[in-house]
Amino acid sequence: MTRRKLQAKPLLLVNICQLLTFSSKTTHLGPRRGTDLKELGIIENGAVLCVGGKIVSVGTTKDALRDPWFKKNRKQVTEIDCAGKVVLPGFVDSHTHPVFINPRLVDFEKRIEGASYEQIAAAGGGIRSSLDAVRKASATLLTSKVLTVLQDMAAHGTTTVEAKSGYGLTVESELKSLGAIRKAASLWPGTVVATLLGAHVVPKEFQGCSQKYVEIVCKEMIPQAAKRKLAQFVDVFCDKGAFTPAESEQVFEAAKTHALNVRAHMGQLSETALQPFLRFNPASFDHMDHVSEADIKQLAKRDTVATLVPGANYFLGLKEYPNARRLIDSGVPVALATDYNPGTSPTISMPMAMSLACTHMKMSPAEAVAAATINGAWALGIADRKGSIEPGKDADLAVFGVQEYRELTYWFGANHCELTVFNGVVASRN
Ligand code: NIG
Ligand code: FE
Repeated sequence: MTRRKLQAKPLLLVNICQLLTFSSKTTHLGPRRGTDLKELGIIENGAVLCVGGKIVSVGTTKDALRDPWFKKNRKQVTEIDCAGKVVLPGFVDSHTHPVFINPRLVDFEKRIEGASYEQIAAAGGGIRSSLDAVRKASATLLTSKVLTVLQDMAAHGTTTVEAKSGYGLTVESELKSLGAIRKAASLWPGTVVATLLGAHVVPKEFQGCSQKYVEIVCKEMIPQAAKRKLAQFVDVFCDKGAFTPAESEQVFEAAKTHALNVRAHMGQLSETALQPFLRFNPASFDHMDHVSEADIKQLAKRDTVATLVPGANYFLGLKEYPNARRLIDSGVPVALATDYNPGTSPTISMPMAMSLACTHMKMSPAEAVAAATINGAWALGIADRKGSIEPGKDADLAVFGVQEYRELTYWFGANHCELTVFNGVVASRN
């Protein structure tokens, strides 16, 4: 994998069968909502010119080849022929948990035999069973785990990843996990946004005294992560078996005190009233399997993104999926993410998440691609740089060996990504 520090030579992608730009020219400002979610800004026989790691022009191949700057500088430009291919902004996977050591194969088998996620967790499996290995692991081992995942994600077309800690749940091991994210990010050419998820569950040693643990999250983990600039966001798993709404508000308060932005796992197992959390201006509420009509109305007026992670429903073998249609048709901005983690969604594939969104949540292929790119960027607060192919944005692109964008969601389980471009630098699939 190409290292981030490489200098970008000017790069021109030409003859692109379908170039999905997600140009903001024909949509409203802010995250895509309602019918704006399916505005792809497609250019047929398209071209993209990238200079100095940024996109500088976007249009047809004919216009690109006629461009006076290009004619003069042609010798310095690397040209890539994308005939018969689709080019997108690299996927923005805005919800992942990559800092763990082992897969949870016992949980997987127990579920197949009929146990639920909550029953397995209550019996000693679940998140708590991933803690020991992370606590014992060296920073080097954790870094290599994260880096391997980032490389795998890139091979599937992802160029920006949000990465959470959350499998250590001591001050030391959460900081170590965030350190591993930072180190892996420095060795990967893409962009990583780090999130502290110290409030993932109450660890065993604090069972029955969750308030003591919340104090540690608020008074030690958050201040230290903020001081060392190890995280941009703080997340909390607000649900039965995890943290109460009151505890989650405490975590949000502490995050804001230390100038960190917030996001939350909400409504995965049960409904929580979202209204009390809106004053913290969360970047996203994630999962959202259970949400009230009143809260949907509130979210339709805000930029907080509902990040849906259908991989979790699929892997848990659930019949129900989040009601994406209700959210989108009500005007709530929706993003899609993998939720890569060992318990509920061990997939690194954004195309898989998109395919599930189409088949199980009735999102159209167009909506799914937009939710996986531009709205993922909005969910991370980086839509000024990422998520669309427009002049001035970072040159993060993904090239797929298909002629039609709908094929990305159609050929489920296959990887058609042939090339990724990070800040104007090409990385081949392997
Ligand atoms: O997003 N719900 C909380 N966190 C993860 C699951 C983590 C695990 O089971 O290891 C999720 O589904
Ligand atoms: Fe998650």
